[in-house]
Amino acid sequence: MKAIWKRWFNKNASAYIDSESIEEMKDAGVPRHVAIIMDGNGRWANKRSLPRVAGHYEGMKVVQRMTRFADRVGIDILTLYAFSTENWKRPETEVDYLMKLPVEFLDKFLPELIEKNVRVNIMGELEKLPKHTRNAVESAMNETKENTGLVLNLAFNYGSRAEIVQAAQYILDDYKQGRLPEGPLTEEMFSSHLMTKDMVDPDLLIRTSGEIRLSNFMLWQLAYSEFWFTDVLWPDFSEADFIEAIKEYQRRSRRYGGL
Ligand code: IPE
Ligand code: IPE
Ligand code: MG
Repeated sequence: MKAIWKRWFNKNASAYIDSESIEEMKDAGVPRHVAIIMDGNGRWANKRSLPRVAGHYEGMKVVQRMTRFADRVGIDILTLYAFSTENWKRPETEVDYLMKLPVEFLDKFLPELIEKNVRVNIMGELEKLPKHTRNAVESAMNETKENTGLVLNLAFNYGSRAEIVQAAQYILDDYKQGRLPEGPLTEEMFSSHLMTKDMVDPDLLIRTSGEIRLSNFMLWQLAYSEFWFTDVLWPDFSEADFIEAIKEYQRRSRRYGGL
């Protein structure tokens, strides 16, 4: 099939992927935690002579679909990199739009998330967000905090180095205040000061758009994750692509340094 038709077909048909193949995939064991670097919105828009923000809007729709998919296949945590601490370098109009997207996304999607028992978590420096963005994300976290289903963990104004430095600062403060026992610092103690403190590390990392780098994403937590890269731009990412990534993950042999 020609690539363009394949994309069209995947996008339109994959929401209806038969339950048998989903069950088969679930039986083989889906990753508990999937983290995605959603990249390529701007290029998707450029290719269509649209403004970059149109790519972000399409990208938001894919976030909804992939959240539904993760819930359907029984993934425990879906972490999505939506705005990095470096993304403030972009033109003001684009940043403003990206700050409005969570408001719009949650406005539209929160009732469904609540109905699906999804817990929304935002990982990042929320203090630096504009008020409207911060209010929207904080109330979503609040309204879903008792939910016990999928955790939708949105990395927003997130940067891994800042997170690690913040953890070191917390630990220093805790020692000074006597909140930590005397004695050597352990990996577990360190992890428990990161923004992912109650989460298992990602089993699978996906990055779209053909870039092969981490861009300051979860440097500590990805130490032993399986990586899967695709050239597909995020607004084109489909359930079929997600399945392909999971199937590839299932073929990998995770050794953690052992045999
Ligand atoms: C990812 O798409 C979304 C964000 C980083 C906010 P980009 O906006 O980075 O799109 P490209 O990489 O320029 O195509
Ligand atoms: C990483 O994408 C950040 C997000 C997906 C939110 P970027 O597009 O910002 O990363 P670089 O600049 O290509 O490394
Ligand atoms: Mg990019």
